[in-house]
Amino acid sequence: MATRVNAAPGDDLTVAYRRLNAAYQQTLRYAEDVRRLYQQVQRAIYQSLLGLANALEAKDAYTRGHSERVGAWSRGVAAALGLPPGEVDMIGQAGLLHDIGKIGIPEGVLRKPGALDPEEWTVMRNHPLIGAQIVAPFDFFTGGALMIRHHHERWDGSGYPDGLAGDEILLGARIIAVADVYDALTSNRPYRAALSHATALEHLTSAAGLTLDEDAVSAFVGLIEALSTAKPDVGPRSALRPSR
Ligand SMILES: [Fe+2]
Repeated sequence: MATRVNAAPGDDLTVAYRRLNAAYQQTLRYAEDVRRLYQQVQRAIYQSLLGLANALEAKDAYTRGHSERVGAWSRGVAAALGLPPGEVDMIGQAGLLHDIGKIGIPEGVLRKPGALDPEEWTVMRNHPLIGAQIVAPFDFFTGGALMIRHHHERWDGSGYPDGLAGDEILLGARIIAVADVYDALTSNRPYRAALSHATALEHLTSAAGLTLDEDAVSAFVGLIEALSTAKPDVGPRSALRPSR
């Protein structure tokens, strides 16, 4: 015989529903905990990467502000191109750290005010490789390491260190290249003043499809024009050194 003779038929269902609901609420709390932990880890990662970028700025005054601008613009272009949030984050972080390999370049070359001789150029052109090696221990950042390695590759294959062309170059590296070139053009150089925003955009547009990725240029132009309308503070321009 049944032992629960007093139980109404709906009671079992009510108990089951409450248990199910409690389990569901618990799952939501776990999911929230995971989300919060993920955000904390992301923040810690970003701060450690920022520390690396700051170490470079202490060595090379040209990169002061340059790294952050390139990082912010690269992130903005990646978002404008509709890339997933994780990819947008990685491209922004790789943009921030694109020149980190300059830490390994001798100061006599890095700070030379005039033109580099061929031998010095060979040394300078190692910085993307050194940068990729510096971030290699971060296994969450494998894609970012490749973007750093390839930020001086060019769409037509004329770049370095690997001479990649077109889609062989990670999209993140193509985006960083556009932001890097724009910031170099609009910064003062030892031999010329910074180009105006409009002239720099003309340079980018004429390089689109040749040395720079056309889609990345067009997304960058859209972003930078929106930003200049809003007149944001994107950091001071350095007057010291061209991008190499
Ligand atoms: Fe570079």
